[in-house]
Amino acid sequence: MNIEKLKTYWYPVLASKALKSKPLGKTLLGVALVFFRNNDEVICFKDQCPHRGVALSNGSLVNNQLQCHYHGWSFDKEGRLTHVHGCTKKCEEKIELEAFSVVEEGNLIWVRLSGDRAFEWLFPLEKNFVNSRHIKQIEGDFLHSIENFLDPTHTSFIHKGLLRSKSRQGMNISQKSSEEGFVTHYALRDKQNGLINKFFDKGINKNRAMFRLPGFAKIEYLKDEALLFCVVIFFVPLKKGEIQMVVDVALPQSMVPKWLVFTLLQPFLELALYQDKKILKEQYEKTKDKEFEYVILESDLVIDHLLHLLSDKRKGVDKQLYMEL
Ligand code: FES
Ligand SMILES: [Fe+2]
Repeated sequence: MNIEKLKTYWYPVLASKALKSKPLGKTLLGVALVFFRNNDEVICFKDQCPHRGVALSNGSLVNNQLQCHYHGWSFDKEGRLTHVHGCTKKCEEKIELEAFSVVEEGNLIWVRLSGDRAFEWLFPLEKNFVNSRHIKQIEGDFLHSIENFLDPTHTSFIHKGLLRSKSRQGMNISQKSSEEGFVTHYALRDKQNGLINKFFDKGINKNRAMFRLPGFAKIEYLKDEALLFCVVIFFVPLKKGEIQMVVDVALPQSMVPKWLVFTLLQPFLELALYQDKKILKEQYEKTKDKEFEYVILESDLVIDHLLHLLSDKRKGVDKQLYMEL
């Protein structure tokens, strides 16, 4: 992965409600971070005390300052060292913590590790849609986790019965990519035929699956042009082998009562996630130690695009094909 490129994007690392009155530690792209609130602002520093290297997230907030729990050094909201326990005179040393840009938006705390890319709200749900949000951690590779969500060919096996049954389902596929992402359109010739569809499918005949750098993925389920349901996942690469998924499941406001639909749908989605988690963990264990040589065929719809966007491999091919799953 091109880590330096990925560091220039914004990631939703915490739910706003997770950050209360204590400092909180979280890792992004392998960089340990400490977050705390200072009045209305969220502050983020590298989570390491410059004195002897312990985690500042294990410290506390004293008079709005971040205090290390080892020898009590204190830092203000700019990251400046303001107090050294044991020094009787004002601290002369100019020591500053490394600070990172933070935005709090949509009940999420977003961070950018480098560069000056402007913040962009990446959960564009349709008007009149309501969503239910879940934040999950999984063990797996970043790129493979995104491929798993966006490439449907595994669904006949990993989610057999749940998302697809034995009878085959034909679809026309067309794809369009850019240097920031790609969109795949599925025009369904036959109705999708898993258990979920039996209960919840109100005539879906199109799917639209999109990806945007650095980890934003969305699948829309449509009847003609009307959006019936959508799942958005922001994949956040915490560190090697550890991914956070910020999942929004969205339904039209008109669907009443929404809480009931969300409650009924939840166990099915949890089961699909459990099945994906298991295979992603297995894949990670088998591939983590050395560069894996992929076999990529036309039926692999997204991996070439992901390798190009996330790992600087050669540009992917936009597919136009008929497929049966
Ligand atoms: S390690 Fe933090 S004050 Fe000493
Ligand atoms: Fe899956």
